[in-house]
Amino acid sequence: MPDTASAPSNRPPLPPEIARRRTFAIISHPDAGKTTLTEKFLLYGGAIQMAGQVRAKGEARRTRSDFMQMEKERGISVSASAMSFDYDGHRFNLVDTPGHSDFSEDTYRTLTAVDAAVMVIDGAKGVESQTRKLFEVCRLRDLPILTFCNKMDREARDTFEIIDEIQESLAIDVTPASWPIGMGGDFLGCYDLLHDRLELMDRADRNKVAQSIRLDGLDDPRMAEHVPPSLLSQLREEVQMARELLPGFDRQSFLEGHLTPIWFGSAINSFGVRELMEGIAQHGPPPQPQRANREVAPEETPVTGFVFKVQANMDPKHRDRVAFVRLASGHFQRGMKMLHVRSGKQMTVAAPVLFLAADREVTEEAWAGDILGIPNHGQLRIGDALTEGEALRFTGIPSFAPELLRAARAGDPMKAKHLDKALMQFAEEGAARVFKPMVGSGFVVGVVGALQFDVLASRIELEYGLPVRFEASQFTSARWVSGEKPAVEKFVEANKGHIATDHDGDLVYLTRLQWDIDRVARDHPGVRLTATKEMHA
Ligand code: G4P
Repeated sequence: MPDTASAPSNRPPLPPEIARRRTFAIISHPDAGKTTLTEKFLLYGGAIQMAGQVRAKGEARRTRSDFMQMEKERGISVSASAMSFDYDGHRFNLVDTPGHSDFSEDTYRTLTAVDAAVMVIDGAKGVESQTRKLFEVCRLRDLPILTFCNKMDREARDTFEIIDEIQESLAIDVTPASWPIGMGGDFLGCYDLLHDRLELMDRADRNKVAQSIRLDGLDDPRMAEHVPPSLLSQLREEVQMARELLPGFDRQSFLEGHLTPIWFGSAINSFGVRELMEGIAQHGPPPQPQRANREVAPEETPVTGFVFKVQANMDPKHRDRVAFVRLASGHFQRGMKMLHVRSGKQMTVAAPVLFLAADREVTEEAWAGDILGIPNHGQLRIGDALTEGEALRFTGIPSFAPELLRAARAGDPMKAKHLDKALMQFAEEGAARVFKPMVGSGFVVGVVGALQFDVLASRIELEYGLPVRFEASQFTSARWVSGEKPAVEKFVEANKGHIATDHDGDLVYLTRLQWDIDRVARDHPGVRLTATKEMHA
């Protein structure tokens, strides 16, 4: 059961409803098993009745939450979503990270909304490129990480080797929460080192939870009833070595992001998943203070939150947009009037939604740590703050300089105005940067990864019925311009052909050469060019 003691010792006790929340994301390399693990989480969380549903309902889910042909065609998860479910007296809020490496910006923002991450690795492949990238993003925010080493039912690497690789390549200490017994075809299950339990996998029924036998340590004679002698002696030897060589579990060190507990399992066989969920519930952090112009603590009474993702056209029939808001503090109730800090206007949140499994449901209340979906007509943008009156400004949601620029051309020139509108909408959603050059017509669109152009083209066609082409642009880099007004004005005057504005109206310098950027620094010392801009800073 949840207890207020789960707040780190240096903070006041949290109200029980907040203390029981666990808001986290799963990070992994494609194919490591994130979808399978998510499905098992939902199964044990009671959000779905039967494994296989996430996939079976894939079509419906996609049209509802992603509406992306792309996802179907390429088998990648394009947009993030959030799901909530209860487990062991805790409320889990699982924020899905987009799986493809091209979507690092979106992923980065997703990770600003969580308090912890589960890192899934494939037992045969170890730490892969995308795992490493995502891990680095987690590290920037010192997120606590729980590791799940998946696919232990198949031929996997040696356990010490896996642990060593994580320690060395990610520079984080690893402590085993469980230890695998056998491997591949001989994989029997794990010894749970945190609770002294023998967990035995059932190969016959993939949805059956492991048989769990509580023991008096590794020398308990009952072990021999379930584990053949050769595997038993190997287990005892390895655990003894692990205890000598590896650090024990230390919650503070884990919460500070220095130490990751690792569970070994097989998501598809439902093995090790429940232990991992227990780990999240028992040791994972409750909602943490959020960075803003002051630190916002979850237990503060006034409700505050920030938008970390906007998804347009979730229901193509309604043309609505849903802003995903991480509640930073307080107890939210439906119908509350909130101050939309950027516009200074009040807004009544009449139909907030929580995403329970694949369905969205209007909710009456939510607490700090929850991810609320707020349908709106475009007022809410990434980085926006909602408060009960305070002019808060949340920090740490950056907007990255796009690495690829292309000119957008309407397939039908008569529809150019419509295209402009669609592009602006995607810019507000954060799906792309859209720059309007000072000189000439049309737009330059910037993305972080090439695949995003395909995603955009497919969405513009699907959602607006507009064919669009992205053609080579004369520019390859974009930098935001800031500095003293006279210096900026002089710079703009001298570089009109390179200046554009983004969807917020902020000045951007477009160029082809790093050399140009260096030259600006030399010729216009009062002007600053930056590769990121903090959203609505
Ligand atoms: P992802 O979201 O991280 O990309 O991975 P996903 O869960 O889709 O899993 C990738 C593949 O690995 C799937 O196989 C899945 O069934 C398999 N898998 C997941 N967990 C385990 C496990 O514990 N053991 C084994 N042996 N395989 C596992 P697939 O063939 O690509 O898809 P499918 O035909 O099973 O749907």
